[in-house]
Order: sequence, then structure tokens, then C-alpha cells
Amino acid sequence: MTRPILISPSILSADFANLESEVQRAESAGADWLHVDVMDGHFVPNLTIGPPVVAALKRVASVPLDVHLMISEPLRYAAAFAAAGAHVLTFHIETCAGEKEARATIAEFRRLGIEKVGVSLNPDIPIERVFPVLDAVDLVLVMSVFAGFGGQKFIPDVLSKTRALRARGFEGYVEMDGGLNAETIPACAQAGADVFVSGSALFGAPDMHATLARFRTSAENSIQRDDACPLNS
Ligand code: DX5
Ligand code: ZN
Repeated sequence: MTRPILISPSILSADFANLESEVQRAESAGADWLHVDVMDGHFVPNLTIGPPVVAALKRVASVPLDVHLMISEPLRYAAAFAAAGAHVLTFHIETCAGEKEARATIAEFRRLGIEKVGVSLNPDIPIERVFPVLDAVDLVLVMSVFAGFGGQKFIPDVLSKTRALRARGFEGYVEMDGGLNAETIPACAQAGADVFVSGSALFGAPDMHATLARFRTSAENSIQRDDACPLNS
């Protein structure tokens, strides 16, 4: 199965004093989605942005907002993020006691009109934790660093989770997030990922357009060539 590659630059690494021009820079570079990292200082040891900033981004962005909730109580804030204009809304499975709570969260996101509902998990959480809800989500976000900060090093062990999702027949989006760059993207694509988040490697690049194009080409090429990726062997 060949699926289109989507690149979702993370505004966590943007210049927050100039968000509108940073959004435009990412869009001119060819961004498919814009990744928005929401952190509550509780689920992760960092604080970022909330619904008002998502709403402001929505006013200036043309591409869909891919909102990654790294917060302990996704249900409590879901309505605010839906109203702010989240297109993809992803919660962490670690925040739910079990399948029942995860299904209730997904159902509430849908009731609020979220178009694409995602579930995520940190590198130390077994992929089996999301299996019970795979039929109900559009996207699984496989974290390739521990949620909380940009600029961390890619953890290759998580590639087996992406492979496991595809081996199980999951046909939704598999997004990977953390430490992605031209060196790590090919292994992710080969494992079955189709949405690639990148913060520091894109916003820190002298030429974001060229770098994003390189990311896309390296993903496309490695999907076609199942053989030559050392991280996957
Ligand atoms: C980490 C965030 C990521 C982060 C990725 O908690 O979920 O989206 O912005 O940043 P890089 O690409 O710099 O690892
Ligand atoms: Zn993220």
C-alpha cells in the first residue's frame, strides 16, 4: 500500500514572537499539516500553549492544525481545542485508566466535530496499549522521544511499534514525532509511518523549503526500497 507522505512541522521550535510569519515560512516550505504541541506541566515537565494560541494559529494557517495534547486531562479541555480549530486532535493513551476511558475520550472528540482523532504513546509504553482502540482512531502518534521537549535524540527501538501497527493491518495514519531528520526519516517510512513531525530540524534549517523537500524525498524513496535501511534491519 502506498500512501502519501505528510510533513507536519512542529511550531514548538518556531520563533514564538513571530508566529504568523513562522506559520507562513512553514507553509511556503511545503508543510502539509502544522503540528502544535500542547503541554500542561503535569503530564510532561514543560508548559507550552493553550487554546487561545491554537485559535490564533488557526486564523493565520491555511493547512490543518495537528494538535498533540500532552496533558493529563484531555477530556476536560477537548471542547476548547475543538472550538479553537484543531483538525487532528491526539491524546496520550497513558492518561486513560483503560479501554473504556480511551473509547469515551475518542467518542467525545468525535462528538465535538474533530475530523481526525489520534492516540499517542511514549517510548516506554508497549504498543499493545493502543490495540483495543485501533478500530476507533484515525491516527496513531508513535513518540520517538519522550514527550516534553524539542531537540531530543531519536530512539530507534520505537520503530518496532510502527511495524507492529502495520502488521496488525492498521490502515490509518501512523505519525512519528521526535528527533526526525534526513537520517532518521527513512527508517520511519520504511517501518510504515506516513506522517512526519519535525521541529528543530526544520525550523532550525537555513533553508526550510530545501530541508522539507529532502525529508519528503527521503521518505518516499525508502517506502519504495524496503531493503536498505540499517535502522530497520
Ligand atoms: C516533543 C514534541 C515534539 C517536538 C519535536 O514532546 O511532541 O513534537 O516538537 O521536536 P524535534 O523535531 O526537535 O525532536
Ligand atoms: Zn508533538
